[in-house]
Amino acid sequence: MKATARAHTNIALIKYWGKRNESLILPANSNLSVTLDGFSTETTVHFQEDLKKDTFFLNEQNVEGNDLGKVAVFLDKVRALSGKEIYAQVQSVNHVPTAAGFASSASGLAALAAASAKAIGLSLNDKELSKLARQGSGSACRSIYGGFVEWQMGEREDGADSFAVQVADKSHWDIRIAAVVLSKTMKKVSSREGMRRTVETSPFYAGWLEQTPKDLQEIKQAIADKDFEKMGSIAEANCLRMHATTLGANPPFTYWQDTTMRVMQTVQHLREQGIPAFFTIDAGPNVKVLYLPEDEDKVKKRLQSIEGVEDIIVSKPGSGISYL
Ligand code: DP6
Repeated sequence: MKATARAHTNIALIKYWGKRNESLILPANSNLSVTLDGFSTETTVHFQEDLKKDTFFLNEQNVEGNDLGKVAVFLDKVRALSGKEIYAQVQSVNHVPTAAGFASSASGLAALAAASAKAIGLSLNDKELSKLARQGSGSACRSIYGGFVEWQMGEREDGADSFAVQVADKSHWDIRIAAVVLSKTMKKVSSREGMRRTVETSPFYAGWLEQTPKDLQEIKQAIADKDFEKMGSIAEANCLRMHATTLGANPPFTYWQDTTMRVMQTVQHLREQGIPAFFTIDAGPNVKVLYLPEDEDKVKKRLQSIEGVEDIIVSKPGSGISYL
């Protein structure tokens, strides 16, 4: 009853921002991401009859408290699905080229879902696996697939139609995504708390819900046409709208820091100089920059020269779940 799975993280080009059901993790809007080959999590789950509780090791360190709690709550769902009352030892390794706050719930929960389902003997197809991973962390449902991935919000109350599907595989389009690592980052409002506060209190949230389905339709067309400027400008505008909702929340908040804004301005300058580059930002201060392979040297050089930037980690579109 042991299995190992690898999942890559993903970055949303159309953001998941707000839930319509908190306990089942059902989103208020459909969204779209690209899976990144540069960041992955490898997780081994071993169910054993003699264990009295679940245990969790992350990068070879024993984890207790809240983080163990999250893993155990997720394994409860897997146990309920299989009908087996058995505890597990979970060992995860995050393959992140630096330690600067890039460990991701998306790759972590996707790898945990895949490894635990296989270890306990469930044979789930990708759609079922995506639904299971979703219940650990919303964005994890997209990491089941490689390339460009849409999470279809669904309509049903029970979440049966809320799962991700692949829009285009990783070989469809050779783009680059640079993760810009900042040298110091402050403690943040978690994405879970940030989206909850925004849904409950921000008057701008209604505008977000109105515009995002249009962004999603257009970006799917841009991806199909490999229209980089269109894809990048929709992704950047969608990101800015998501972040605008947080300024309208009560109490208001932002994920941006001074270096975040310097990176955004640098990307805008690159465009003024004729280099198509676009940014997107999740629930934190780090920025991801989208560009084409031929502009790699120029883009990296400019990003590296920004005060407060520690490292640049370049990804290509990556693959979905694999078993080791
Ligand atoms: C801003 O998937 O981390 O990165 O479902 O509460 O676990 P939970 O949230 P999570 O939220 C990700 C939000 C985002 C946008 C995105 O990835 O689409």
